[in-house]
Amino acid sequence: MKASFWILSLLICLSFAFSASLNKLDTEDGVVAFSFHVHRGNTLEDATRYNRPYLSKRSNEDGTLSSTILNEQSFYLANISVGSSQQQIGVLLDTGSADMWLMSQSNPYCDSTVDCNKYGTFNESNSTTFESNNTDFSIGYVDHRFATGEWGHDDITINGVTVNQQSFAVANKSNSSISVLGIGFAGLESTNDPTNGYTYANLPIKMVEQGIIKKSVYSLYLNSSQVSTGNILFGGVDHEKYTGSLQTVEIVNTDSDSSKPITVAVTLSSISVGSNVVTSQTSAALLDSGTTAIYAPSAVFTALGEALGASYSSALGAYTFNCIDESNDTAVTFDFTGAQINVTLYELQIDVSELSSSVSDANGSCAISIFKSSDSSYILGDVFLTSAYVVYDLENYQVSLAQSNQNSTETNIEVIQSTVPSASTAKYYSSTWSGSSSSSSSSSSASTS
Ligand SMILES: *[C@@H]1O[C@H](CO)[C@@H](O)[C@H](O)[C@H]1NC(C)=O
Ligand SMILES: *[C@@H]1O[C@H](CO)[C@@H](O)[C@H](O)[C@H]1NC(C)=O
Ligand SMILES: *[C@@H]1O[C@H](CO)[C@@H](O)[C@H](O)[C@H]1NC(C)=O
Ligand SMILES: *[C@@H]1O[C@H](CO)[C@@H](O)[C@H](O)[C@H]1NC(C)=O
Ligand SMILES: *[C@@H]1O[C@H](CO)[C@@H](O)[C@H](O)[C@H]1NC(C)=O
Ligand SMILES: *[C@@H]1O[C@H](CO)[C@@H](O)[C@H](O)[C@H]1NC(C)=O
Ligand SMILES: *[C@@H]1O[C@H](CO)[C@@H](O)[C@H](O)[C@H]1NC(C)=O
Ligand SMILES: *[C@@H]1O[C@H](CO)[C@@H](O)[C@H](O)[C@H]1NC(C)=O
Ligand SMILES: *[C@@H]1O[C@H](CO)[C@@H](O)[C@H](O)[C@H]1NC(C)=O
Ligand SMILES: *[C@@H]1O[C@H](CO)[C@@H](O)[C@H](O)[C@H]1NC(C)=O
Ligand SMILES: *[C@@H]1O[C@H](CO)[C@@H](O)[C@H](O)[C@H]1NC(C)=O
Repeated sequence: MKASFWILSLLICLSFAFSASLNKLDTEDGVVAFSFHVHRGNTLEDATRYNRPYLSKRSNEDGTLSSTILNEQSFYLANISVGSSQQQIGVLLDTGSADMWLMSQSNPYCDSTVDCNKYGTFNESNSTTFESNNTDFSIGYVDHRFATGEWGHDDITINGVTVNQQSFAVANKSNSSISVLGIGFAGLESTNDPTNGYTYANLPIKMVEQGIIKKSVYSLYLNSSQVSTGNILFGGVDHEKYTGSLQTVEIVNTDSDSSKPITVAVTLSSISVGSNVVTSQTSAALLDSGTTAIYAPSAVFTALGEALGASYSSALGAYTFNCIDESNDTAVTFDFTGAQINVTLYELQIDVSELSSSVSDANGSCAISIFKSSDSSYILGDVFLTSAYVVYDLENYQVSLAQSNQNSTETNIEVIQSTVPSASTAKYYSSTWSGSSSSSSSSSSASTS
């Protein structure tokens, strides 16, 4: 069958570039651990490790100065090996799309636009276990990158664990510089077009089918922002990577065109700074690993800046204050129907000293990396996710959250059989957001492939 060249117009793609290592992690049967490097940048090509969002000067035509946010996107880069010849390929691990595709060396863009050798390409004639599906593949991403080619299947190995005959596309034409391993909801698959679409077993589902994991779930852990590594555990939870208790909340459907959620948005019940409740208006908030910063509606942006004792710089479009050190424990508490995550002001601060001297209304040389969203939506990017340990349950449309235990080196991994072990239902689980479906669509998270 010929799949139409349909563009994934579905909001957001979180995108990540993951760098995973093939070193064995401490795991057991029923769990697959996959480590990655977090790269941040304005585009995939300029993203590197250790980058944080920051503000940069922009001179306007009228001579005034304003600022622009840089390193807005996060990418999780990982390594996999594919086929009988164990071809090693770097992939961008993406929770915001659901298809895996690998770059072919015959991609004409490899000559000019794209450096295909940087992360490696897949040569199917070099794998005796590869089989073509003889169907066309086509995907477009929000940042207008695309990939087209043909579907096939082959064995892939992740951290020493082999998944047999995983479906993926071989892209013989793409202007993305890296192959993509999408692990989002099957409803997001590029084959699932509205006319004659279908879904297939993408990686998490295939692992369940082969008994490698028990359930289509994964836990995402980002080491501290200074370290820029993280890992994802398919099928399991690592109790050493969080403090307090895991609390389960519902994933809400923010897309009116889909009967089930296709992105991971949760109910944000309130935001506080200490005992000061900044907002208690219930909204949907997108957990977006492809976005670096946090975006909040205008009124909340203002109230939060004030609650944090910062002052607004209209030239910078951000709240500024005197930089603090790690000992300052001021934090913003995000409450999701009872599950709370604290994000310290220290984690949120970004250095603007280079700009503040030339901006008369900047009061201090740090700014808060919470920005105004263009509508009433929230996007909680990596700056938030670094403080949270998040278990994504794609079967039950739930996430379980706890405060992250940053820089943890211990492990205590447990297989997820049905429900997430040791997780309890959040206290106000039933007070789930059910507002208009338009209010959480993302505008600022562009992303890739
Ligand atoms: C992936 O492999 C490349 C090349 O061997 C290496 O430089 C990189 O660190 C690896 N990434 C991870 C996350 O291990
Ligand atoms: C793919 O591998 C085959 C067999 O090893 C080889 O003949 C061919 O040149 C390779 N193709 C590319 C584009 O490297
Ligand atoms: C596959 O490619 C690699 C690297 O180009 C080469 O070393 C190997 O011999 C090839 N294997 C087969 C089966 O063609
Ligand atoms: C990829 O191609 C599309 C369509 O031609 C274009 O809009 C987009 O800017 C290109 N992106 C890159 C990174 O080359
Ligand atoms: C890419 O693959 C498709 C499907 O097999 C084929 O029709 C097309 O000619 C190929 N294009 C290139 C540039 O190899
Ligand atoms: C490719 O073919 C295999 C074997 O028939 C099938 O299981 C899989 O779902 C197909 N993949 C896609 C994306 O159609
Ligand atoms: C988060 O901050 C609140 C208010 O300061 C505090 O009561 C709570 O114990 C903190 N939670 C965690 C997990 O640190
Ligand atoms: C600037 O910050 C200082 C202390 O951080 C504060 O006392 C002062 O009121 C602030 N000024 C403005 C204009 O907000
Ligand atoms: C922490 O930083 C905030 C913002 O500058 C400030 O208002 C607060 O007083 C500081 N707390 C301590 C204990 O220094
Ligand atoms: C997190 O960072 C610490 C300190 O650099 C390191 O020892 C640890 O292995 C990292 N953990 C993961 C899961 O990357
Ligand atoms: C984590 O490790 C990094 C690098 O070693 C260090 O800068 C940071 O302070 C540590 N963070 C915590 C919370 O221990």
